[in-house]
Amino acid sequence: MHAGARMNFGPLSRFTGTPPVLGFGAWAVGGSGWGSSGQNDAVAREAAVRHAADRGITWFDTAPTYGNGASEMLLGRVLRERREAIAIATKVGPRDDPRTSLEASLRRLGSEYVDLLQLHEALPGWEAQLEQLHELQERGKARAIGLCNATHLQIQRATEIAPIVTYQGAYNLFDRDAEEREIPTCQQQGLGFLAYRPLASGLLSGKYSASPPTFVPGDHRSAIYWFKGAEFARRQQVIERLRPVAQRAGLTLAALALAWVYSRPGVNIVLAGARTVEQVDQNLRGATRLEPDIVRSIDAIVAAQFVPARATPTAHAAAATWGERERFIVARLDGRMRYETIAAEWTDRGDKPMIAAQVKVFVDRLAEQGFIV
Ligand SMILES: NC(=O)c1ccc[n+]([C@@H]2O[C@H](COP(=O)([O-])OP(=O)(O)OC[C@H]3O[C@@H](n4cnc5c(N)ncnc54)[C@H](OP(=O)(O)O)[C@@H]3O)[C@@H](O)[C@H]2O)c1
Repeated sequence: MHAGARMNFGPLSRFTGTPPVLGFGAWAVGGSGWGSSGQNDAVAREAAVRHAADRGITWFDTAPTYGNGASEMLLGRVLRERREAIAIATKVGPRDDPRTSLEASLRRLGSEYVDLLQLHEALPGWEAQLEQLHELQERGKARAIGLCNATHLQIQRATEIAPIVTYQGAYNLFDRDAEEREIPTCQQQGLGFLAYRPLASGLLSGKYSASPPTFVPGDHRSAIYWFKGAEFARRQQVIERLRPVAQRAGLTLAALALAWVYSRPGVNIVLAGARTVEQVDQNLRGATRLEPDIVRSIDAIVAAQFVPARATPTAHAAAATWGERERFIVARLDGRMRYETIAAEWTDRGDKPMIAAQVKVFVDRLAEQGFIV
């Protein structure tokens, strides 16, 4: 048995289990925010969804915002005939009225219900929204409810408000904040953990060359920090070192990255995005458990590249006049503490959350100013 993975999601159980499930992330097939959305592209996206279902994928994750409803419409059109054999998970935006939002989603999906209704983000007022999600569940519009993008404190609180069964958060071999608090909280509370962006938005497929990619206007990846500057260079070095590991495991890089997530304790569903039939096929090869020595090799390569920084005595002195968050981070830059741990300790205070990416970006700025040993 997979340590820590939950076996029973109530009504979702026939779609989940042990080992974890490779699900289809339907953001990119929404057609906007992900590069080209021309006619050829639309045909390829529809084919990708159909192929995923033909190849036995039964879990599809979407949201009203993906392609401004186009992702839900596409899933509705393609999956309608096999609706009962498929789980569709959609979301309610953090500023949206849950009932109105779900009704519109159901119209686009051409379905009477969704299998899982998730609150997309826990912003102020999220508790009242979650109560409404529960009401929609009681009315039979959602078979189960869950939460995305929340802190462990919010996840714990959510379990007292409504019978949530899942939490969805970012998780890949680079972005590991979830390991600190959210995955253990899910394990303690018996919630399913759904890992999103398992390929770091495609970066982990290894298809980008030495220089950072340029995306077409409107592509959300232009704003992602790991497609730029120092972080892109660091990740690219790791990816080059992962190539022989992938070869040893007999997998493509994309499949290796997905299999890494698939192999981690506490992961129930790996949500892999794909825009083409070929990507679906490659990603399905990632639905496999890696040998422990392969996981150790991957982790060692990542750890060797992301060595925690040590702040200089001058940085400690200068930080006395900086903001609270900056002082908090500098005080912990001892050359040992992981950035994920620093961010989690800040988040434990129950105020605004922090993620490791923010620590990294700040440390890069400190390094430019000579504040890092
Ligand atoms: N709850 C949330 O806030 C949240 C946030 C993000 C994502 N999600 C969910 O999680 C799902 C997965 O995340 P994601 O789609 O953002 O990122 P991802 O799964 O890490 O990356 C998906 C993208 O990578 C590229 N790709 C996929 N397979 C590939 C392969 N074999 N070879 C080369 N390139 C490949 C494709 O884009 P290109 O072809 O354009 O490179 C694809 O759209 C989403 O679809 C969504 O359902 C949820």
